[in-house]
Amino acid sequence: LAGDPAAGEKVFKKCAACHAVGEGAKNKVGPELNELIGRTAGTLPDFKYSKAMIKAGGDGLVWTPETLATYLAKPKDMVPGTKMAFAGLKSDADLDNVIAYLAGFSAQ
Ligand code: HEM
Repeated sequence: LAGDPAAGEKVFKKCAACHAVGEGAKNKVGPELNELIGRTAGTLPDFKYSKAMIKAGGDGLVWTPETLATYLAKPKDMVPGTKMAFAGLKSDADLDNVIAYLAGFSAQ
């Protein structure tokens, strides 16, 4: 991946009010993000997703570095109706870095 995970850890502060990742991570306002790469959208059994996110997964959305870059740039453009209240990351470097950080908590 192009990004720098250490820089991505700092970017993740924008996510951490709602998301946890790493050992012992639990769902918060948003789902925990361990093993995110390769996860079908909206499929953690113990998190209550929006209908929109469940439909996106049912339609085949799987989280990869590429789909995450699109989603995290403008969540509501990619998944209209998502309840993730986050405008998006404007900087391509921030996107690459946070995705590299999250990929470090995924086996794939
Ligand atoms: C969903 C990442 C910021 C709340 C998601 C998902 C990802 C993600 C990948 C889909 C997970 C899945 O399908 O299991 C991120 C990242 C963020 C961020 C990397 C920062 C750059 C936030 C913030 C909030 C939030 C700030 C709260 C204000 C949620 C919620 C969902 C969600 C509620 C479920 C969406 C739904 O069911 O429609 N997030 N998120 N996220 N996130 Fe975030």
